Amino acid sequence: MPKIKFIRENKEIDVLPGSNLRQAARNHGIQLYPGIFRFLNCHGFGQCGECRVHIKKGMENTSQPGLLERLRTKFSFFHIEHEHEVRLACQTEVNGDIEVYTRPEFNWFGRKNMAGR
Ligand code: FES
Repeated sequence: MPKIKFIRENKEIDVLPGSNLRQAARNHGIQLYPGIFRFLNCHGFGQCGECRVHIKKGMENTSQPGLLERLRTKFSFFHIEHEHEVRLACQTEVNGDIEVYTRPEFNWFGRKNMAGR
């Protein structure tokens, strides 16, 4: 059974293969959305980009991003220096163990301030 480790929350959960990452997080009380976006989001339709997560380990254990997700992340305002490891939780299926950093911060000032990431 795949394990999802939520790094920020220091919580590990077991899910069924093929589980949706957003739904799994919600089922276990993990907050994916920053600030007011917990109310103002697209509720899983892949449009708002606010459920973005940084997959720190196990990207190979997730589903391939679809066209909508690739476009949404490519043309987003956010920039965290790990764009190739960013997924939209609502569009991600979990098929093996992964480690996830929720609500990744913006990188306003470049690589210098990325210590500890
Ligand atoms: S909930 Fe809006 S993109 Fe995932």
